Amino acid sequence: MVMATPKSIWYCTNCGNESPKWMGRCPACGEWNTMVEAPVEKKSASGAKGMATKSSRDRKPLNLKEIDRSKEDRVLLGIPEVDRLLGGGIVPGSLVLIGGEPGIGKSTLSLQIPLNSGLQTLYVTGEESARQVKMRAERLVAGAALPTESANDSNTLVFCETRIEDVIAQAGEIKPDLMIVDSVQTMFTDTVESTPGSVSQIKEVAAMLLRFAKESGVPVILIGHITKDGYIAGPKILEHIVDVVLQFEGENRGAYRILRSIKNRFGSTSEIAVFEMTGTGLKEVENPSEMLIPMHEAGLSGAAICATLDGTRPLLFEVQALVSSAVYGTAQRSATGFDTRRLNMLLAVLEKRAGFHLSAKDVFLNMAGGLKVSDPAADLAVIAAVLSSNFDYSLPGDSCFAGEVGLSGEIRPVAQTDRRIGEAARLGFKKIFVSSFSSLPDNLPKTIKVVKVADVPALVKALFKNA
Ligand code: TYD
Ligand code: MG
Repeated sequence: MVMATPKSIWYCTNCGNESPKWMGRCPACGEWNTMVEAPVEKKSASGAKGMATKSSRDRKPLNLKEIDRSKEDRVLLGIPEVDRLLGGGIVPGSLVLIGGEPGIGKSTLSLQIPLNSGLQTLYVTGEESARQVKMRAERLVAGAALPTESANDSNTLVFCETRIEDVIAQAGEIKPDLMIVDSVQTMFTDTVESTPGSVSQIKEVAAMLLRFAKESGVPVILIGHITKDGYIAGPKILEHIVDVVLQFEGENRGAYRILRSIKNRFGSTSEIAVFEMTGTGLKEVENPSEMLIPMHEAGLSGAAICATLDGTRPLLFEVQALVSSAVYGTAQRSATGFDTRRLNMLLAVLEKRAGFHLSAKDVFLNMAGGLKVSDPAADLAVIAAVLSSNFDYSLPGDSCFAGEVGLSGEIRPVAQTDRRIGEAARLGFKKIFVSSFSSLPDNLPKTIKVVKVADVPALVKALFKNA
């Protein structure tokens, strides 16, 4: 019996999971109402599929010793922080996705790359006219210490095109050192029926670019938009296809932009780089901790400094909490940059293990600079900030925190506590609160006092004796 081929397929906009039928809840990630319908690609499409079979016919499996590793040599993009996030430059033949909300700086960064590196770059734009790109390039060159004297000296080829077959044909002819495609949502292929920006177009365009990158060895940077609620979640679906995902975080309104590596086949993940958006493009911030630590004088309640580790680098930033009596019947809990479920859990621990009645209070939590924090070491600072706001009693400005809080109220040690202590001391902190169960080396800096706390009641005692 021949099965009828389905006309549509459903994708989860949250995790990219595929399903032959609609479901209210995605079975892979458990999110509700995230499945969207997309037509199945035309079977007769010869372009993409045919291309792959033809070239794979000449390919054979290789013995490990025959594989030439020197091809993995990295290409530097001329922006040291971006090169560091990538793991020491971009790998030839790799596909890198740069995602972020509109207006956050994706196009700016992607134009700074060819201007700074001097690489021969095919800059494909489906969003701006060539004139707009030129004007932007002139602004970027004007403000930077770049190898290029003017936008006219750069080795950048601007190509305004949205049909991906034409883009790949040009790239194949030019064989640039680097190709940048801005953005995946504006590109389309004839082999898929749906409109540009739809899930199946995005998947197919990315797959074709990946094939081009792998076969030609040209590294490709792909730009992708995401919205705040992640609804037009192209990049989520793309994450499975591409080699590296760098995601912009932070508030568009603020001057700071955080670029985080959330997937990297050739390096470590959850590293971040911090940039400042200036009138002449993005500038690297060398000491991000200094920027995330408050400008205001110590003495405000509800603020605590947390010593986290982003990937491999210690990073200190401010956690802000506001606790107030609930106006409506049910208390509100809201967290920016921190998991709300985790906040609820920490509030329950405070209630159950330390006797604070917060259930009738609204609790708002905010991580400085629009940072998204997943390091469990932030727990201790969150609790300290919540209690500080609750008592309206400010914490000493020269103290910081690094510890995970367990369900029974115990404070657990966190990875690489000694490096966090080192960074805190370097930034001039005099006191750091850590778990009693941390094992610490003897050669810690002398300028900082390490206060060990075993559980939440011990923390409360140490901080709020006088409150
Ligand atoms: P853009 O890079 O176009 O964002 P995206 O491609 O992610 O949508 O621009 C980001 C914002 O930054 C835009 O509002 C203009 C502003 N901007 C500057 O402040 N300085 C600059 O030098 C440039 C080029 C843009
Ligand atoms: Mg843009």
